[in-house]
Amino acid sequence: MSLLDVEGINSFYGDSHILFDLSMRVERNEVVALLGRNGAGKTTTLNSLMGVVRPRSGTVSFNGEPVHGRQPFEIARRGMQLVPEERRIIGALTVHENLKLAALSAPDAWSFERIYETFPRLAERRRSGGKDLSGGEQQMLAIARALIRNPKLILLDEPFEGLAPLIVRDLVRICGELAAAGQTFVVVEQNVVAALRLATRCYVINNGHNVYEGTPDELRQNKDVMNRYLGV
Ligand SMILES: Nc1ncnc2c1ncn2[C@@H]1O[C@H](COP(=O)(O)OP(=O)(O)O)[C@@H](O)[C@H]1O
Ligand SMILES: [Mg+2]
Repeated sequence: MSLLDVEGINSFYGDSHILFDLSMRVERNEVVALLGRNGAGKTTTLNSLMGVVRPRSGTVSFNGEPVHGRQPFEIARRGMQLVPEERRIIGALTVHENLKLAALSAPDAWSFERIYETFPRLAERRRSGGKDLSGGEQQMLAIARALIRNPKLILLDEPFEGLAPLIVRDLVRICGELAAAGQTFVVVEQNVVAALRLATRCYVINNGHNVYEGTPDELRQNKDVMNRYLGV
């Protein structure tokens, strides 16, 4: 049984049909990259998994249980965490307060020590206000806030967007270490190189259709798919 099993979902915004019979699966301990051009439907896919968007048809099973039609908080309680593109750090709270708030209702939360060991930069910044963080620090906090709840699956929506290459390298390393320690991720990225460095398997989405599935090596060698759908 896969950790996540998505079968033929169709998602809409109003009358606009966005996802067409989209299927995907995520096994425990995988890092699955979801790639595709701007507007392809990647964020809508993550939102459909998390219950932010309700698929009109198809099924989403998480940890052996159907979750389509459930509310985001119910899906979160079952161990899925979305780190949205906008990060949604609470600017008026400190780093530590942001983490504390995230851990609040988690039955099996990580200790702050463990989080700060994973993100030493956040330990240095623990008393800083969320609004005073750099983009990279904000992204670390956004990921840490998801992680502290000890989720079975973390969905990352464009975690590297707008960050300097050195920061991206740092974040890729940290996520790689978390993955090596058993954390399962789905990562949506326009930065194909960084995403493929992390991923164990990938999907390519185009116009709301799943058009490719393969390993990072297979995708790198598939110049046709790389060109047609990813513009690399
Ligand atoms: N809230 C919304 N209302 C209507 N259309 C939307 C909304 N959000 C996204 N879309 C449309 O859905 C399509 C897929 O968007 P999205 O999932 O955000 O793509 P991606 O994340 O791959 O860039 C795009 O055509 C976009 O314009
Ligand atoms: Mg998006």
